[in-house]
Amino acid sequence: MRHETFRKTTLSLTVVAAAAVLAACENPANMEAEQLGWRGVGMEQVTNRKLEEALRAANQMPEITPPVTPGGPRAGDLYENVQVLGDLTITEFNRLMTAVTAWVSPDEGCNYCHVPGDFASEDIYTKVVSRRMFEMTKTINQDWHAHVGDTGVTCYTCHQGKPVPEHIWFEERGGPPQAGGLAASRAGQNLAGPQVGLSSLPNDPFTPFLLGEEEIRVIPTTVLPEGTNPRNIMDTEWTYALMMHMSDGLGVNCTFCHNSRSFFSWDGSPPQRVTAWHGIRMTRELNQVYLDPLQPEYPDSQLGPHGDAPKANCATCHQGVHKPLYGANMLQHYPELMAVTRSGQDEDMRAEARDNGAGATIGSAAEEALEAARHAIDAMDEAAEMAEEDYADEEDGDDI
Ligand code: HEC
Ligand code: HEC
Ligand code: HEC
Ligand code: HEC
Repeated sequence: MRHETFRKTTLSLTVVAAAAVLAACENPANMEAEQLGWRGVGMEQVTNRKLEEALRAANQMPEITPPVTPGGPRAGDLYENVQVLGDLTITEFNRLMTAVTAWVSPDEGCNYCHVPGDFASEDIYTKVVSRRMFEMTKTINQDWHAHVGDTGVTCYTCHQGKPVPEHIWFEERGGPPQAGGLAASRAGQNLAGPQVGLSSLPNDPFTPFLLGEEEIRVIPTTVLPEGTNPRNIMDTEWTYALMMHMSDGLGVNCTFCHNSRSFFSWDGSPPQRVTAWHGIRMTRELNQVYLDPLQPEYPDSQLGPHGDAPKANCATCHQGVHKPLYGANMLQHYPELMAVTRSGQDEDMRAEARDNGAGATIGSAAEEALEAARHAIDAMDEAAEMAEEDYADEEDGDDI
């Protein structure tokens, strides 16, 4: 009898649990799957219509400031302290100041970046930071066409009406502090990390890959271990952590950029993977040349737990969408952003970063990567052929 009650209770608990689990499942009518590539390799983009609606609403181009008539005196001739916007006419200059206020500090106004009553003053860190932001935006739009195309970016792409963009990152050395003992060293992983799609992969793939230039590719390019592939399982976990961020940051599946038949092959990959390749190099340059070196300018309140400056990753611009603002070309309405002159110091910093192997000039490395991948595929085909021949010989009873 008691047995019976127990069974009944277990049964009803199971029913309740099952109902709870099912209720947590997404209504299939809300899901949409679109085939993006070859059949049979899972190249699909699955979209949740409800989430998509919210994302669309959040990622709209804001109202465009009315354009100004060209001509008139230049800002550089009239104002006291303009180092990068001197080529703009006064009307263009004022239009831009109005626009950046709406994009970056709509609630705080001009005084977010200016000492009240003294526009020329440098005694406020936000002004010094913004000047670098003007130069950085110019660099993105002028030198990174391979990634941002004609769409380009404005301050709004990252800021969306907030002084501090929604998605920034700081160094995390080994994860948050925790209890001692055996659990103390997690090597920066085994904790669900929001930065890496709530996986328990290494929590900070940004320091090595988007600030540093660690090698991302981990799949061996020779069939047999030859001692030429020093990459191990741990390296692979770091690569996967970055990939989780890239998928999450763009709101796409892995197959948006990869053919699941072979993750390493460039031949079979959708062209978006090459765009992403340039995106990785661009983001490195933004962090190395612009964002990280701003560290001494910030008050402590803006710095990370290890004292480093706030930095950018894919999500800073993309905000969960495959193209920022769904590919809306906002830049074309603000030619003022292309009229920024970069300082001599900016030139030097970019040149130094390039010498260290980062940034725009290593475009040919993509070609090299493609070439290496092609060789590897040939080698695999050859190995498969050889294996087939050996097998055939064996079938014939030959000694091998
Ligand atoms: C997000 C930061 C930011 C906001 C907001 C901002 N400015 Fe500026 N402003 C700057 C920067 C940076 C410079 C220096 C540009 C340069 O060095 O070429 C500047 C320079 C100026 C100057 C030139 C001062 C001089 O004599 O050298 C004026 C005038 C000015 N801003 C007016 C405004 C007004 C008016 C507003 C509000 C409608 C405004 N700014 C909002 C960042 C900002
Ligand atoms: C690629 C993305 C990106 C773009 C484009 C961009 N910013 Fe930023 N901006 C950042 C990041 C990241 C920070 C660091 C956040 C922080 O300060 O905590 C930042 C910080 C700032 C700050 C300091 C905010 C604070 O209170 O600490 C200002 C002001 C600013 N940006 C203005 C601008 C202006 C003006 C433009 C356009 C000319 C611009 N930004 C374009 C990413 C961007
Ligand atoms: C937005 C495009 C994009 C998305 C999404 C993406 N990847 Fe990648 N993946 C790349 C690029 C680009 C590289 C090469 C990076 C480089 O060489 O700098 C790469 C490299 C890799 C590698 C190493 C390949 C090799 O040759 O060793 C693996 C493994 C990988 N990705 C797995 C994944 C997984 C798993 C996902 C989903 C969680 C994913 N990727 C999502 C673009 C993407
Ligand atoms: C400075 C802002 C910015 C950053 C940072 C950025 N992107 Fe982009 N990305 C863009 C813009 C703008 C486009 C749209 C280009 C176009 O319309 O042709 C784009 C397009 C793409 C596309 C092509 C999407 C499509 O539908 O064809 C991929 C893939 C991509 N980005 C991946 C990345 C990855 C991966 C990262 C981080 C490593 C990254 N991006 C960082 C601005 C950015």
